[in-house]
Amino acid sequence: CGIVGCVGRDGDAKEVLLSGLSQLEYRGYDSAGIAVTGVGGPLDVAKREGELQALKDAVEDRSFPGGTGIGHTRWSTHGPPATRNAHPHTDETGRVAVVHNGIIENYAALRDELTEAGVPLTSDTDTEVVPHLFARYLTEGDDPEAAFRRTVSRLEGSYAIAAVVAGEDAVFAARRHSPLVLGVGADENYLASDVTALVEHTREVVYIEDDQFAVLRPSGWRVTDATGERVDPEVRTVDWTAEQTGKSGYDHYMLKEINEQPLSLRQCTRGRVDELAGTVGDEGLDGLDRPDRVQFVACGTSYHAALYGASLLRAAGVQADAYLASEYAMTPCPVTSETLVVGVTQSGETADTLSALRIADDRGARTLAMTNVVGSSAARECDRTFLLRAGPEIGVAATKTFSTQLVGLAVLAEHLADAEGADPDLVTALRDLPDLAQQVLDESRAAEVAEEFDGMDAYFFIGRGLHYPVALEGALKFKEITYEHAEGFAAGELKHGPLALVTGRTPVFAVVAGDGALARKTLANVKEVEARDAPVVVVSDGSQEVAGYADRVLEIPESHPATVPILANLQFQLLAYHVADRLGRPIDKPRNLAKSVTVE
Ligand code: G6P
Repeated sequence: CGIVGCVGRDGDAKEVLLSGLSQLEYRGYDSAGIAVTGVGGPLDVAKREGELQALKDAVEDRSFPGGTGIGHTRWSTHGPPATRNAHPHTDETGRVAVVHNGIIENYAALRDELTEAGVPLTSDTDTEVVPHLFARYLTEGDDPEAAFRRTVSRLEGSYAIAAVVAGEDAVFAARRHSPLVLGVGADENYLASDVTALVEHTREVVYIEDDQFAVLRPSGWRVTDATGERVDPEVRTVDWTAEQTGKSGYDHYMLKEINEQPLSLRQCTRGRVDELAGTVGDEGLDGLDRPDRVQFVACGTSYHAALYGASLLRAAGVQADAYLASEYAMTPCPVTSETLVVGVTQSGETADTLSALRIADDRGARTLAMTNVVGSSAARECDRTFLLRAGPEIGVAATKTFSTQLVGLAVLAEHLADAEGADPDLVTALRDLPDLAQQVLDESRAAEVAEEFDGMDAYFFIGRGLHYPVALEGALKFKEITYEHAEGFAAGELKHGPLALVTGRTPVFAVVAGDGALARKTLANVKEVEARDAPVVVVSDGSQEVAGYADRVLEIPESHPATVPILANLQFQLLAYHVADRLGRPIDKPRNLAKSVTVE
């Protein structure tokens, strides 16, 4: 979900909130809403089920007199997407409005308490208890700030909350385990769950910490801790510009971001690849000693990157494993102070990953966040941070952040490698990678392949070794945005079960690269599916003769074994994009998904 807030706008809070929500739509798009007020004025609320556009249409001709307000775009957790479940939630008198990200774990008890007191509750959400408690404490005579603090002190769970009170030129906010950023302006201040919603107004930001409160007024802002003591947080300058978060003429953010990868890769390697010395530099890894073992924790696309990282580290002589963060949290692995737990998370806010990192930290491990977002929760909570520098990624389907994660993990592997595992060729490969990526993007035939294999029963992706995570990621991207059935398999596993699914209507996409045993064995698996009539598309670097087996070839240039997966994956990104585009899918906002999932 996404939160925005503003104070001190000259009567145009509505526009500011809607524009901020447009930047956050990728956070959820089940429903959206705004609440606006001003000094001595009423509180005006509008909300709609569906995409943000439905709300925009509904309020187009409606004036919201006031310069203070909050807005929300929702990704459902409690209660289906419906207008009654959309935020902001209000009390029955319409005096208080609240938006919330996260999950209030004790909401059932609070709900019972309110119902017993005769308060009518009308939604299925956990959030609705908040405005009712807030209004009750106001009625009991608390001033708004005190009533807000008292309300929040009743909540258990995770939250980023913003609230407004009718007639008050102020936004009240609190955070625990869910991101919230304050934007500092002149005579106007802002709030958002993500800096991308702030950059059109200001680049001066304050990251609110867990268990802190903030009050924003036109004249200034104040952050306090749980006890009410004022804190003096650092005001940071973000370097993302509003232009960077636009579509730059592309039909979709995803396509724009796919095409930005040469630049992202260059930014990610800057200062980290020392060509003269033939070594990797250590920005973000300064003084990081070789741990006894490395455990990666991650979700979704980032988990695929983690699988790649673990393989590379093992090849570099370091004991390493990748875990799904949600599973790691259930059955934590043994750690010591010599274990490094790496959270791979582009947003730095994925609740499952944060929770796994916190468990590891509590048990004494060292922690590293590999993330794209400066000031994100993972970046702030881990012992050290490796920044991906991919630039803002808006499309829900991760593309450029994945590629930079692979580069980051290759740099990490090289940094930790023992004498035998070190690979000076990798440095050259990383230096050449942006140009090779550009070549793949320029010459890709993925659009033609998409056209040819439209409307099949299912799509399978196979690869071995470092190409196995690419097969998983190729399938994930494909299913996320096309809604077609796609699965990724380790090529060697195909014959142990999935082969039963293979028919003439299930194209198989295989990565075959390099001239070693790995490529030859994958090719043997390709022959197995070909013999079962499956159409075959091979991503090939030309080192194996594939023409005899493949119906189609997607070419990539020859490169280092660690960079082949990045190049091969570009072809799969384009393939998924073009199939989804042909099917008319909402590519940047696939149904039921959100870019960063801040609940477990
Ligand atoms: C969500 C997104 C995925 C993403 C995953 C992990 O589920 O839809 O695309 O890979 O979160 O996100 P992270 O920000 O931790 O990399």
